[in-house]
Amino acid sequence: MARPKIALIGAGQIGGTLAHLAAIKELGDVVLFDIAEGTPQGKALDIAQSGPSEGFDAALKGANSYADIADADVCIVTAGVPRKPGMSRDDLLGINLKVMKSVGEGIREHAPNAFVICITNPLDAMVWALREFSGLPHNKVVGMAGVLDSARFRHFLSLEFNVSMRDVTAFVLGGHGDTMVPLARYSTVAGIPLPDLVQMGWTTQEKLDAIIQRTRDGGAEIVGLLKTGSAFYAPATSAIEMAEAYLKDQKRLLPCAAYVDGAFGLNGMYVGVPTIIGKDGIERIVDIKLSSDEQAMFDKSVDAVKGLVEACKGIDSSLA
Ligand code: APR
Repeated sequence: MARPKIALIGAGQIGGTLAHLAAIKELGDVVLFDIAEGTPQGKALDIAQSGPSEGFDAALKGANSYADIADADVCIVTAGVPRKPGMSRDDLLGINLKVMKSVGEGIREHAPNAFVICITNPLDAMVWALREFSGLPHNKVVGMAGVLDSARFRHFLSLEFNVSMRDVTAFVLGGHGDTMVPLARYSTVAGIPLPDLVQMGWTTQEKLDAIIQRTRDGGAEIVGLLKTGSAFYAPATSAIEMAEAYLKDQKRLLPCAAYVDGAFGLNGMYVGVPTIIGKDGIERIVDIKLSSDEQAMFDKSVDAVKGLVEACKGIDSSLA
């Protein structure tokens, strides 16, 4: 059987890391696409030359033409610009919206059957716009945010509790921005919810609140340290987890920016919610119960995302 084809639209920091991870995990053959000439070809060649030592079987190709993504099974989109210190994700909206238009049209024409994972920020608005421009079914277009935000939360919690990250589960819902909603009640150490761990004296509410805030600021903390770009190792790893769930029909329950129409009382919009990812893409939205406090935070986040979508419509009238 032919190996799956994975097209990476954007061959920058995240795109290159995605290509390396996809090859090492043997998820399929990889096409790196970028408008910059030479970058995708150079990265593809460099990664291919890591194959003999790593021992993977995957073909890697760099491309500047959308024809090369033809019939991809998975497209992961990082095309656009990352933020610089002092910028919020929302500051990227105008420039990255134009990029989503060309990427969406490229996918529509050349890879209409792909499962599309968007990483470009501001995430919830960009995945919505990418879906509009591509015209693909909503269940096949999804945004990567919750897996990364939850991974950041899990990492900080594992440091606080001095336990393995593998035993920490966490849920972060809502938009991928300052209003994201880390859900303490649904986050656990081997099944013990965080509020119980506070009661057991493993940590204090103040420390937990500080961890939640650090999670919300997780991307900005890295932008501040790097100074020339934003995080790329963990974002790439998170998207690969989602791609693998699709390609292997794993039915993983992962928080993703998915199209929600009905669940959570929402009326057709993209925002971070728990989803099941399998061979049909987003196979189910898991409509968990929120407390009134959680619901208020979620509503605020939903409003922030709606504001960005309205801003997109104001910029590009074809979206209105
Ligand atoms: N089509 C294809 N590629 C494009 C286009 C376009 N229209 N415009 C820009 N690119 C490419 C750039 O040439 C660059 O190689 O997108 C790549 C982006 O790479 P980086 O600048 O290294 O950014 P990266 O860190 O990978 O982040 C990409 O993901 O997390 C988000 O906020 C981040 O929006 C940013 C995106």
